[in-house]
Amino acid sequence: MDFSLTEDQIMIRDAARDFAKNELLPGVVERDDKGIYPHEQVRKMAELGFLGMMTSPDYGGSGMDTLSYVLAMEEISKVDSSASVIMSVNNSLVCWGLENFGNEDQKQRFLRPLASGQKIGAFALSEPEAGSDATSQRTTALDMGDHYLLNGTKNWITNGKTASIYLVMAQTDREKGHNGINCLVVEKGMPGFEIGEKENKMGMRASDTHSLMFTDVKVPKANRVGKEGFGFKFAMKTLNGGRIGIAAQALGIAQGALDLAVAYAKERKAFGKAIAKHQAIAFKLAKMEAHVQAARNLVYKAAWLKDQGLDYSNASAIAKYFAAETAMWVTTEAVQVHGGYGYVKDYHVERLMRDAKLTQIYEGTSEIQQIVISRNLLEA
Ligand code: CAA
Repeated sequence: MDFSLTEDQIMIRDAARDFAKNELLPGVVERDDKGIYPHEQVRKMAELGFLGMMTSPDYGGSGMDTLSYVLAMEEISKVDSSASVIMSVNNSLVCWGLENFGNEDQKQRFLRPLASGQKIGAFALSEPEAGSDATSQRTTALDMGDHYLLNGTKNWITNGKTASIYLVMAQTDREKGHNGINCLVVEKGMPGFEIGEKENKMGMRASDTHSLMFTDVKVPKANRVGKEGFGFKFAMKTLNGGRIGIAAQALGIAQGALDLAVAYAKERKAFGKAIAKHQAIAFKLAKMEAHVQAARNLVYKAAWLKDQGLDYSNASAIAKYFAAETAMWVTTEAVQVHGGYGYVKDYHVERLMRDAKLTQIYEGTSEIQQIVISRNLLEA
């Protein structure tokens, strides 16, 4: 086993670390507090090539491997998960999906501007009554010959308002169940497409999460990704990689909280010595470190499997499950280490704790990951 990083990977990790420190950290508390979308920072992420990291340079991307993407996600998430979720959805759900399953025309029209960061993409699977149960799509895409007629509502859509290009899953033939679902590329401005109010979220408050409403939207057949009925498989295959991105995000959140807790514990004194010198705190930090390192190994392994062209669906579910649980637990402990200071915004850990919660919920809840893992275990 070779756990070392290549020179390129180290360079990307360091560039992401510098970017997070210099461009994201200033203002992160205010953006989160007021729910201000990080327009300027997203523009800079595009300049750095962070919005199409795994996409081939042939389509405007950076042509990096999944591990490089994970390293960048981790660094950015230590500081600002609102920025990293914008990046993650664009990279692993939208660009990856289009590159792997779109046709040449779709790659030229949609992937190219997305991978270069000229445009932002969104992935629309969840509905008011179809979250975890993704096969129960109520949104319909009726086949009208040269186009589909799209009707329905999508919920919890990251990049909901800032996106220009949306991958929308919809049911064309209900009798065929999941094999009757299609993925359609919907563009902002298509008549009948409306965007709902921004959700007032608990965490990742600077990213824009919206509902999308479709009323008789005419989507050309040329905008269907993959063959007829491939939409559910498209979503599942794409989410396999998306989960690696969110696992990396959770890892970054956990590492960020641990770093803050260590620094605070070395500085803060109680009963005549730094609180880190008290075993109650030292043991807490040790357990946090062990969990973060275990999560990192799982996340990097999932990325490595993907880069080797091996099956990574189970590994990505395990990585996401474990990293999200770790993030929630480690951030809660980090708040505890900080005592009262942990409960106020300027010390950052309460934000990381709120952000961690979302990693247990989106791109498949922790329970969904357990369904995937247990099915693989029991059906093997
Ligand atoms: N990879 C590849 N194929 C898969 C798959 C996977 N991970 N999971 C299922 N499939 C395939 C199956 O092999 C099956 O194919 P066949 O018909 O050829 O046999 C087909 O899909 C149907 O699979 P299931 O019978 O297992 O389907 P199910 O109804 O039991 O559901 C599920 C499976 C795992 C629960 C799935 O519904 C699921 O993942 N739900 C969670 C959805 C989710 O993650 N939503 C997140 C929304 S995106 C988001 O959050 C983005 C954002 O903005 C941040």
